[in-house]
Amino acid sequence: MPEDWSGHATPAWLIVLPSDPKTWRPMGAIADLAHDAVRHGDLELKNGKQLYLHRPAGLKAQRLVFVVASDLGAKAWRGAVAAGVATLKNSGASAVVIGWAGPEPLGDLHGELATTAFADALYTYRHTKPSAPAAAALGKLAIAVDKTDKAQLAAVRAGLARGTAIGAGVTLARECANRPGNHCTPTQLAAQARALAEEQGLAIEVLDRKAMAKLGMGALLAVAQGSDEPPQFIVLRYEGATRKSAPIVLVGKGITFDTGGISIKPAAEMDEMKFDMGGAASVLGTMRAVAELKPKVNLIGVIPTCENMPDGRAVKPGDVVTSLSGQTIEILNTDAEGRLILCDALTYVERFKPTAVVDIATLTGACVIALGHQHSGLFSADDALADSLLGAGRRSLDSAWRMPLDDEYADGLKSNFADVGNVGGRAGGAITAALFLKRFTSAYRWAHLDIAGTAWKSGAAKGATGRPVPLLTHFVLDQAEGKAG
Ligand code: BES
Ligand code: MN
Ligand code: ZN
Repeated sequence: MPEDWSGHATPAWLIVLPSDPKTWRPMGAIADLAHDAVRHGDLELKNGKQLYLHRPAGLKAQRLVFVVASDLGAKAWRGAVAAGVATLKNSGASAVVIGWAGPEPLGDLHGELATTAFADALYTYRHTKPSAPAAAALGKLAIAVDKTDKAQLAAVRAGLARGTAIGAGVTLARECANRPGNHCTPTQLAAQARALAEEQGLAIEVLDRKAMAKLGMGALLAVAQGSDEPPQFIVLRYEGATRKSAPIVLVGKGITFDTGGISIKPAAEMDEMKFDMGGAASVLGTMRAVAELKPKVNLIGVIPTCENMPDGRAVKPGDVVTSLSGQTIEILNTDAEGRLILCDALTYVERFKPTAVVDIATLTGACVIALGHQHSGLFSADDALADSLLGAGRRSLDSAWRMPLDDEYADGLKSNFADVGNVGGRAGGAITAALFLKRFTSAYRWAHLDIAGTAWKSGAAKGATGRPVPLLTHFVLDQAEGKAG
């Protein structure tokens, strides 16, 4: 429970009920109301069902929501909290207290998932939509636990703190990715990174086109050359451990708009290519969460960012460029641009002598075909690193699914005119893309997350999800605690 409840005289109650009423703890008038509602057929004891009561008899609270959760598992718990908060969002309540009516103690993940569900439910995009509904009155959340159960109290407290940080990171990533291409340009993205660095006390460095040319980032600059918007190369640092402790590096694809370039995309749904900087947004969100939680680890966030446009000066199919690694690349399809900006970033980060590098990218439509919108695609030749990322995703309900990375898939990347081609045919397209990146990662342990299916939603609920900030934050925290991988 937060200590300061001034201004929240009567918080709403959100009671999560297990589906078996025999397991409900005695909760005085609250239990009576729940039993009564069930008896009269107003509340069905099935997962996700809920009942809202205004000024319930015999209670001080003016608002009460019962939500049924089939069990205390992470998914049922998060779903119940999300459903209850969605109802209370449109009430006059300014604060909510969540109570669990079952016998089992809550753990840290319950605290975390309640908080992240809360942040998710309360986010509204406004930046270019002044007519969006006014902010909900609801702004504060607490979880009621038995004060005498010190272990439960400590666990839930820790979970609340982690969830608050992750929730803010997810919100930042959503806001950043939701902004249209004419607002979220590479220059704007760099400005947002600078603001984040200022606010959270992170070190930042931004390389401009000239600096990138001097280094020899020929692949990144080839993508950027068709746009009037100058490319940026953003490096953010969080220092939570000694200087000599090898950092974790996150590299996020920051294509602020992907037209496909000369290999131009069809018009339908091209607007969604403003989300092609979702990887970059997740790096910013994770840096924010980590900066708030202050784990003892060094973390570097790297964002290569530019637009992919058709133009008189744009790179053409068949053009050969020299990457920062020295490998030449035949650009057979200018729409396979993500791997071109990432490969130079992956070479650049060798200088940090990282303990592990994870790149995050809305890289291929093929990954959406393979995995849909549930799991992000995970590619790594390192089993321990892959397992850490899978575990972090599972716990935070931000899951990834491991995909193959056999070298045999790379045959299609062969070129008669360069060391490598940038496309490898339609079959297994997410895997050939990952294998292209792998060629630039021999200096460190590396994993790649293809978030093309998970970074945003289409249709009526179109918008960024903030994924995989929860997965990445858990991964970084685990590394700080020295967990395997
Ligand atoms: N940003 C896209 C990938 C993408 C497409 C993500 C649709 C989500 C939905 C990427 O730059 C791209 O265009 N990839 C091509 C690669 C192909 C040319 C080998 C693709 O997936 O079609
Ligand atoms: Mn593309
Ligand atoms: Zn792209």
